[in-house]
Amino acid sequence: MRIALDGPSGAGKSTVAKALAKKLGIIYVDTGALYRTVGLFVRNNGVDKEDTKAVIDLLPKIKLNMEFINGEQIITLNGERVGDNIRTGEIAMYASRVSAIPEVRAFLLETQRKIARENDVVMDGRDIGTVIIPDAEVKIFMFASPEARAMRRYKELVQKGEECTYEGVLQDIITRDRNDSTRETAPAVAAKDAVLLDNSNLDVDGSVERVIEIIKSKVEI
Ligand code: DC
Repeated sequence: MRIALDGPSGAGKSTVAKALAKKLGIIYVDTGALYRTVGLFVRNNGVDKEDTKAVIDLLPKIKLNMEFINGEQIITLNGERVGDNIRTGEIAMYASRVSAIPEVRAFLLETQRKIARENDVVMDGRDIGTVIIPDAEVKIFMFASPEARAMRRYKELVQKGEECTYEGVLQDIITRDRNDSTRETAPAVAAKDAVLLDNSNLDVDGSVERVIEIIKSKVEI
């Protein structure tokens, strides 16, 4: 079974997908981590994220591997685990820029498709239902208002001890939404056959419950 869970930044996809994967005994694939890893490499090489040609020229230098150990997704970049280095606001902006480059998307395509071919997955991303697994058994597009998403992300960052303001987080979300939904290649839009889920007024448990209802309406679990 393949579940495509798409939607904008901060809609709670990863939290819901993780809970779901555990419940269903399938693997959770965080595809944003791949774009973040490319973003990290671009940043570490001092390349301007707006310089499309320079970013493309870096791709042959990237050896990226994604595997699952006890259900945990492990990404290595040129032999080294990326870990939490990809989880900063700065790298999120790099990821958002580089993910608009078609060559970057092509570079990461097969890694994602292979995982979905070989496993039962819940895959979290932006173009899973439209590009990566267009024939997924279940497609869900999960979203919430920018304000609701910003508040959730803000609380998360504060808990991690990152310095930020709610307004700054909201601005980042609006910028990333614009980048992600207006790019020409694989914009973050719902697949025609995706079920739309607005979780602005739902908590994590409520969102998981709703997602399970949607899955049950499509397949036997
Ligand atoms: O889900 P995330 O915040 O970790 O994603 C980081 C960036 O990567 C986000 O700005 C959009 C991009 N992305 C994408 O273009 N396609 C995906 N399947 C996943 C993420």
